[in-house]
Amino acid sequence: MNPEKTDQYMKDHFVDNPYLAHETRIKKIIDETAHVKTFVMENIDGQYNPAFDFIPGQFAIWSLPGIGEAPFSYSCHGDSENKEMQFTIHKIGSVTSAIFKYQVGDIVEIRGPYGNGFPMDSLIDKDLIFIMGGIGAAPLRGVLHHVLEFSESYGNICVLHGAKTPQDMVFKEEFLGLAGHETVRCLLTVDNIPEDDSWEHSVGVVTDLFNQNRYDDIDPSKTIAMICGPPIMYKFVIMELEKLNIPQDQILMTLERRMKCGIGKCGHCAIDGEYACTDGPVFNYWDAKSTKEMI
Ligand SMILES: Cc1cc2nc3c(=O)[nH]c(=O)nc-3n(C[C@H](O)[C@H](O)[C@H](O)COP(=O)(O)OP(=O)(O)OC[C@H]3O[C@@H](n4cnc5c(N)ncnc54)[C@H](O)[C@@H]3O)c2cc1C
Ligand code: FES
Repeated sequence: MNPEKTDQYMKDHFVDNPYLAHETRIKKIIDETAHVKTFVMENIDGQYNPAFDFIPGQFAIWSLPGIGEAPFSYSCHGDSENKEMQFTIHKIGSVTSAIFKYQVGDIVEIRGPYGNGFPMDSLIDKDLIFIMGGIGAAPLRGVLHHVLEFSESYGNICVLHGAKTPQDMVFKEEFLGLAGHETVRCLLTVDNIPEDDSWEHSVGVVTDLFNQNRYDDIDPSKTIAMICGPPIMYKFVIMELEKLNIPQDQILMTLERRMKCGIGKCGHCAIDGEYACTDGPVFNYWDAKSTKEMI
């Protein structure tokens, strides 16, 4: 993104200092797995907080004074009054370990929203395939929540979700509950199961699920696929989607890069002239493919 584009982005997205973090209160903490928690955040009454005004696929940056900052995707779709937001966080290093010490009622400094998010309007009337691996389920869960709330505006929905083990699978119960929706099909898989586990779903990588789904009636021209997961997953998932003849600009994906500023200034997330923070993190495969080292 060139400097002019970056400045326009700032004008379009922020009325005040885009680096400014706003105080946000932890309303609820949900244990998803041993290493993943969902933090439900609420606005502090009377205070303007732009971080609540987001679309799925965007991200916010948590600022922990004296420890550091880290970007996290919104894992919900927000409510119409922007009073709540959720983040699903994997404990992996210093910032996330400090976040895991927070309790309900604690105040956190959060800045955002940043990035482009999913093009929600272009999903209307389409059949949707969600392909997610591990913590990659977080940003896609926001899209899924939105689509389920307005399901009459969308076609068939297929969710393919993979994790290392049943114990590592985030949103497992929530996704299994999707079976009640007439238009939704959800298939779960894990790489490994402990011997004594009562796992009743697939074992194998997420691309194995493509063999189990019924694609005979798929119309590639009206299907959009969305991918988020570990980097290794993208190449193989795209190979499966190409077998289904889904056009490259109808394959959407979130791409994570190490980020600092989140607003197109520091250059940490630059890839071949594009900034993952402002040009992304959501890209379509057609655009991502033409950018060196993107996938
Ligand atoms: C746009 C975006 C959205 C994200 N959304 C989420 C989310 O919803 N939930 C979530 O749990 N995490 C998410 N992440 C990743 C998260 O920001 C990092 O895991 C976080 O910075 C870790 O901070 P830390 O200080 O705890 O760990 P660190 O000490 O910074 O890192 C621990 C280890 O993780 C590696 N690492 C850290 N960040 C990345 C990265 N971006 N890519 C590859 N390796 C990395 C480091 O190399 C190191 O090995 C997102 C990242 C981006 C860029
Ligand atoms: S994170 Fe600074 S330019 Fe993208």
